[in-house]
Amino acid sequence: MKRIVEFTVNGEPTEMAVETCCSLLDALRDDVGLTGTKKGCDVGDCGACTVIVDGQPVNACLMLAVEAEGCTVETVEGLQPGVDVLHPLQDAFMRHGASQCGFCTPGILMMAKMLLHENPHPSDEDIRFGLSGNICRCTGYTKIFDAIKSAARELEAARS
Ligand code: FES
Ligand code: FES
Repeated sequence: MKRIVEFTVNGEPTEMAVETCCSLLDALRDDVGLTGTKKGCDVGDCGACTVIVDGQPVNACLMLAVEAEGCTVETVEGLQPGVDVLHPLQDAFMRHGASQCGFCTPGILMMAKMLLHENPHPSDEDIRFGLSGNICRCTGYTKIFDAIKSAARELEAARS
């Protein structure tokens, strides 16, 4: 059975008819066409599908699209503030060589955004805890930690 669901994605009001069993992840990728959010495990283990819903990080594979009714959803596509302007996290990931593959990086970026929103000066321990749900077995996370701390400094400088 399909239901109409309306929510806002990256500032754009969106309306679609979705099966009631459809995950927010599938709706974002297949109905909205925002494929930056990746499907890794599809069972809540890897964090590749991390998006921000009403200001909270969410595994989009574990949330039904119909549960997003009236919500504000942010995906990795909304991170970049302008066509030629990178978010400080994107810039720092590039400069520090912290980008991993296209599956894990979008989720890590979104979780890092939440982390810095809640804790502008995270320690390594804070970052380790914050990213504990974003699994990549291909990295030691060192460059990712460096990039997040660098972005934190940039965001701090921009605020002062
Ligand atoms: S795809 Fe959602 S947590 Fe892995
Ligand atoms: S899962 Fe993306 S590089 Fe390891």
